[in-house]
Amino acid sequence: MTEKRVAVITGGASGIGKETAFKFASKGDRVVVADFNEQLGEETVAQIIADGGEAIFVQTDVSNYEDVESLVQKSVDTYGRIDVMFNNAGIGRLTPVLDQDMKDYHAVINVNQHGVAHGIIAAGKKMRELGIKGVIINTASVFGFLASPATFAYHASKGAVIMMTKSAALELSVYGIRVVAVAPGAVDTPIIQGYKDKGMIDDMKSKVMGNKLTQPEQVADTVYLLSLPEASAINGSVVMADEGFASFK
Ligand code: NAI
Repeated sequence: MTEKRVAVITGGASGIGKETAFKFASKGDRVVVADFNEQLGEETVAQIIADGGEAIFVQTDVSNYEDVESLVQKSVDTYGRIDVMFNNAGIGRLTPVLDQDMKDYHAVINVNQHGVAHGIIAAGKKMRELGIKGVIINTASVFGFLASPATFAYHASKGAVIMMTKSAALELSVYGIRVVAVAPGAVDTPIIQGYKDKGMIDDMKSKVMGNKLTQPEQVADTVYLLSLPEASAINGSVVMADEGFASFK
């Protein structure tokens, strides 16, 4: 019998990360749920275990490299390996660029950009050390390609995720490690509460084919597909999981 895969999922306490944790666990993978939010992260793990899956929670601030390094080490200490690293934790702030509070700007870059860099480096090193031909999946966004008002720092961070994905894929391919990104569009999770509060949700929906919000489970399905050996030709790519958001105007 082949050993079970181990998938580490940052931002696993909510939204896309939570649904991805459920997806991998339901397919028989061991899951490490990593998040800032301990209560919701533990709830994700409890649900997986109640459903007969295997998971642990590791409280992690992805903006801190040492935290991400110890997350990867804890995963290996617990389950013996790391096959999938999903660098997904993210935050958003809706602020016009010239009213930008620099603390908010740095917070978004620290989580969305540096958090992904930390995950690529810590997981990549461990996979190389253990000789595991793993997959690193990063959450980008349609906003890594398309400008939208009051989203300056977020655009900068997601553009960086796209180029870090290509750059790391190039260097890690010699170890048999793939690095890919998923780019969601408008997904119904707590991160878009700001759009709901500002009455902008109908506009968001109108950008999705079918005039609706994408469900986080749909993005989770895409992430799972990208992790499979059958996706071996997908490397350095950004796969849109946006129901057409970036395909029409
Ligand atoms: P969410 O708000 O439901 O989940 C984000 C999770 O990240 C939360 O559990 C939060 O506690 C965690 N987190 C935040 N800062 C963290 C930190 N420093 N360390 C560890 N965990 C931290 O939002 P959602 O939508 O599930 O977001 C997941 C990813 O998807 C993000 O990278 C987001 O930018 C991206 N995305 C979301 C879209 C949407 O419309 N919902 C569209 C495109 C991309």
